[in-house]
Amino acid sequence: MTKVPAVLGIETSCDETAAAVVRGYPPGPGDIVSNIVASQIAQHRPYGGVVPEIAARAHVEILDVIVERALAEAQMSLRDIDAIAVTAGPGLIGGVAVGLSLAKGLAVATGKPLIALNHLEGHALTVRLTHGVAFPFLLLLVSGGHCQLLIAEGVDRFIRLGTTIDDAAGEAFDKTAKLLGLGFPGGPALERAASHGNPRRHRFPRPLAGADGFDFSFSGLKTAVRRAAEMSDDLTPAAVADLAAGFQAAAIDVLVARTSKAMQLFAERYAAPHYLVAAGGVAANKALNISLASAANARGFEIFVPSPQLCTDNAAMIAWAGLEYVALGRTDRLDAAPRARWPLDASRRDVAGAKA
Ligand code: KG4
Ligand code: ZN
Repeated sequence: MTKVPAVLGIETSCDETAAAVVRGYPPGPGDIVSNIVASQIAQHRPYGGVVPEIAARAHVEILDVIVERALAEAQMSLRDIDAIAVTAGPGLIGGVAVGLSLAKGLAVATGKPLIALNHLEGHALTVRLTHGVAFPFLLLLVSGGHCQLLIAEGVDRFIRLGTTIDDAAGEAFDKTAKLLGLGFPGGPALERAASHGNPRRHRFPRPLAGADGFDFSFSGLKTAVRRAAEMSDDLTPAAVADLAAGFQAAAIDVLVARTSKAMQLFAERYAAPHYLVAAGGVAANKALNISLASAANARGFEIFVPSPQLCTDNAAMIAWAGLEYVALGRTDRLDAAPRARWPLDASRRDVAGAKA
């Protein structure tokens, strides 16, 4: 019997230091053998947001221990690993460089191939790891840095339908949570507050509602919430909950309306079965999940969303994406460069391994 391939994944692009071992074959599902995530939330909390310098230093301090822990939990040594997969961008460049340097060192020391991955592709392919979803699928990618609608036609084959023209979805949740005094990280705090509020007390704008295309905008919504908060003379917990609920309802309406329109286009272009996938940190939001599921149902799409722990940043998604590339026989050169920006629909051949 041949050994099922195993990949070590490393993720350091934002404020989670993560390593994981995943085993399996595309299209999945795969087997998460270990999945360690060390959050830096406590270090960033006093500043109300992620501080790049602090993030990079924290990755340097613990990444080797996290990798050792992921191997120990998997009861494996580097000898048992078939490739080293690592996030090479997009993200905070200092953190990305820390992960990529360690991965290169491990690749050199062991002679195993290096796979330098796009973090967004990790999010995008997670539903193959968890559910073995076949290509093509429609993808709503909503995270702290991105808000995009894409068609995933294959590994490294994405067509972008639309993106945000101002804030990313998670950024809008984070900024709104901050102005409402809900603390950091904002997305989950805002969702909690919204669950006690009345979403109909305020009627906030739905930016770009009915506009052509598939782009998103959130900055007008955020400003409307700020104005309403400033006009309220007593921001009691109940008042904050109503503002949070009003914001969340509007943000979800924007996301679901655009996704619904994209489902229509997808259904015209591709034969059934039709799949809708949500990924990235904001996809952990329960109210968004419920609304997306009913929109998908109305259009005959089957919806797939990873569990909340696999929506937010982790290294299992990177290890799985590594397995997808291993199966295609595609690995990277040791001079792969860290990239602060890296659109998912750019050809990977043009960027990975290229000198910055
Ligand atoms: O994918 P992710 O962990 O990191 C990036 O690649 O950006 O996404 C983090 C983002 C943050 O903006 C966070 O506030 C948001 O996802 N988020 C949520 C929820 N959980 C995380 N937003 C809304 N509701 C949630 N439950
Ligand atoms: Zn992410």
